Amino acid sequence: NGASVETNDLAEPYLLGWLASVGLDVEYVRGEGNTLYYRDSEGREIPVVDYAGGYGSLMLGHNHPEINAHAKSLLDGGIPVHAQFSRHPYANEVAQALNAILRRELGDDAEEYSAIFANTGAEAVEAAVKHAELDRRMRMDEAYAAASAQVSAAQAAGAGVGAAVVEALGLPAGAGIEVVADEITRRNDAVRQRTPLFLSLEGGFHGKLVGSVQLTHNEGYRAPFAALAAQARFVPRDRPEVLKEVVEAERAELLGLAVEDGTAVLVRHAAPVFCAFVLEPIQGEGGIRVIGREFAEEIQRVCAAVDCPVIVDEVQSGMGRSGSFFASSRVGLRGDYYALAKSLGGGIAKASVMLVRRSRYRREFELVHSSTFAKDAFSCHIALKVLELMEADGGRVYRLAAERGQALKDVFETLRTDFPDVVEDVRGEGLMLGLEFRDQTQSASQALRENAGTFGYLVAGYLLREHRVRTFPTASAVHTLRFEPSVYLTDEEIAQLETGLRDVCAILRAQDGERLLLP
Ligand code: F0G
Repeated sequence: NGASVETNDLAEPYLLGWLASVGLDVEYVRGEGNTLYYRDSEGREIPVVDYAGGYGSLMLGHNHPEINAHAKSLLDGGIPVHAQFSRHPYANEVAQALNAILRRELGDDAEEYSAIFANTGAEAVEAAVKHAELDRRMRMDEAYAAASAQVSAAQAAGAGVGAAVVEALGLPAGAGIEVVADEITRRNDAVRQRTPLFLSLEGGFHGKLVGSVQLTHNEGYRAPFAALAAQARFVPRDRPEVLKEVVEAERAELLGLAVEDGTAVLVRHAAPVFCAFVLEPIQGEGGIRVIGREFAEEIQRVCAAVDCPVIVDEVQSGMGRSGSFFASSRVGLRGDYYALAKSLGGGIAKASVMLVRRSRYRREFELVHSSTFAKDAFSCHIALKVLELMEADGGRVYRLAAERGQALKDVFETLRTDFPDVVEDVRGEGLMLGLEFRDQTQSASQALRENAGTFGYLVAGYLLREHRVRTFPTASAVHTLRFEPSVYLTDEEIAQLETGLRDVCAILRAQDGERLLLP
């Protein structure tokens, strides 16, 4: 049931070979709603229930009829897809629609957010990071200039220097204003030139481009490319005391001088060394982990204290998947930036956007950041259609995500009750759910022990083969299967999954690992 691995395959043949080894090398020929179809050896279409949901890009399923009809009418109408450097009213409409949703979920006092469009999730994250760095540098330059002006004024006034200043700067006793000024300039230059600091969460995933992969926790993805971009400090989830420690250890100041009664005294200005705290409100690739309300409040408090902007990566958790449009709004987390992608493109367009709070917005960014494909008419119009469908009937899509998600979660909870020896945990909100199996590294089954590192993929291959269910773990959480179907998930589809999972649980209870291997 699937492609054989051709030796002359030039498009990632190694990955395909690996997929083949666990029986996941299937070619899908059609998609509709929650169903993907492949052809068997007789050419018949075989349906598979798709819980991978394009890794979360299919909130409205494969080939949603209204989205597809809209796409066709746009193309038939000769829409100018690429008309860079012209008016883009549809992009503004997307931004307005997202702002209206933000106000609803955050409260009427929410500030407006400006929108910068991009193509992929990683790109939206990187646009936010670049903007945050532009803003940080401008704030740094302003603070540096203000401190320098103070020092110059003290020099011009020929101010005396008290012993306290000399001691604080570690200078020899009796040092005069010129020596003090040189030392302050040396220190301020060093602070100004420090590489920007990023904070991120352990288990976080923010993409695999040069910059964003350094915010992604998984070492396998990140470490080989560490030399290419700034590093992040990874903070453990729900450990506010560690967050405080990291921030305390890294904060820095710029020094200035004030002249009081003809004598110079030190003035300390907070230096903007923190570029951004980047986090997912519900970690996806990290194994479906929901950030708690208290931790969210602490993040907000600590970041505000050092003027570090918060970039809320809603690439996977957003677009209604959690039951709210922004998962962060459920725990009261308010971002200075938001990144959205995946379902924004309705399953057919590649579209992403980053939103930035107006009070942080730097219009200079518009002149230094762009992409050939970003903000194009086609993907903006598709995004508008997606938002229209989501907002229809007072947000029926969000209610469905919550209700269908609960129905699915109830099944997982029943499995946990029935198989406490096999199921470790059930996590998530709405249609972003994770089912964690117990670690199999010490399994009685040799097959399970030997494949413990790719355990979830074995289970995925088995579910596909035997139950026509498509789901995956992630590379960062191989014991957790991830479920992100569309809101049109039916009870029958849930029942089909339950049958498959009960079969897997029984196999694991019996430690009959051989059965999960390819025949
Ligand atoms: N941020 C989050 C939270 C993501 O989950 C992803 C992708 C990205 C950024 C990058 O988006 O792929 O469009 O560049 N997550 C997928 C996953 C790949 O497996 O969870 P991208």
